Amino acid sequence: MKEIDRSEITPKWLYMNRRQFLSKVSLVGGAAVLAACAPGVIPTAEEEKIILSDMLTDFESIKTYNNYYEFSLSKDRVHVVSKDFKTDPWQVEVYGLVENPTTFSMQDILDQFPQEERIYRLRCVEGWSMVIPWMGFPLSKLLDVVKPTAEATFVRFQTIADFDQMPGLDANFPWPYQEGLRLDEAMNDLTILATGIYDEPLSPSNGAPIRLVVPWKYGFKSGKSLIKIELVAEQPHTFWNLIAPREYGFYSNVNPDVAHPRWSQATERRIGELQRRPTLLFNGYEEEVAYLYEGMSLRANY
Ligand code: MTE
Repeated sequence: MKEIDRSEITPKWLYMNRRQFLSKVSLVGGAAVLAACAPGVIPTAEEEKIILSDMLTDFESIKTYNNYYEFSLSKDRVHVVSKDFKTDPWQVEVYGLVENPTTFSMQDILDQFPQEERIYRLRCVEGWSMVIPWMGFPLSKLLDVVKPTAEATFVRFQTIADFDQMPGLDANFPWPYQEGLRLDEAMNDLTILATGIYDEPLSPSNGAPIRLVVPWKYGFKSGKSLIKIELVAEQPHTFWNLIAPREYGFYSNVNPDVAHPRWSQATERRIGELQRRPTLLFNGYEEEVAYLYEGMSLRANY
């Protein structure tokens, strides 16, 4: 029998298209993996393992399995209830302790900040996860434009609360949804403002037209449909911390060793997979972000 040439099986070994393969490169960031992208070059078994372990989540699941309480408390209803959400015109006001307060229209944002693809894991505090190919840009680029003053040490994010369009606002929660980051966390290159997924503008269910993405923190830190970004001197209140302070801290870094008071965070269910997998410290971004927490107890600062 004719031996199969390795090059003939190349398209099959990954069960992914080239784009997905390339996406893994940005996840693992290794030069060796990059080299494997050259035509005709076959990844090693070790490289294949890394690549296959973080396959992109399919677009349908990303758009239809959501947490967005302003629309619905039920994850599979959000996309139905939000489908006609009006996001044009849209403005994001950036103000507070800045030299150059600015209100950006969505067009200003798209014109001023080049959009790039970022493939990130998203880990929800509830114990499920996805891998999402975002389009967006580093938040630091926008902060550079407004120029935080020396007193600014935190950033507060506020998302829209539109009673005409969002039936979930009838639930008794401390609306609007707010989140916060320390300024150095906000300036970290991994922190992005996302405007799209899989080369399409964000769906309302994913936070159209613009949302925060902080991949090393639990998903609830990533506020959707942002309208205000305020630079402040004090640690801001956050939506989930106001509701249940013992369960949801300000930091909310993904950490398999710090359990939620009601469940373990050691493992997660990747959407599309049957078995649970181990959760990674800082959601796998330790190298990029651990310096932000040097000398801090991650347990006390949960
Ligand atoms: N932002 C707003 N405004 N309202 C929300 O209910 N849910 C958060 C976060 N951002 C939420 C939000 C939670 S709990 C998670 S896990 C992520 O959005 C989910 O993002 P996704 O539905 O796009 O996957």
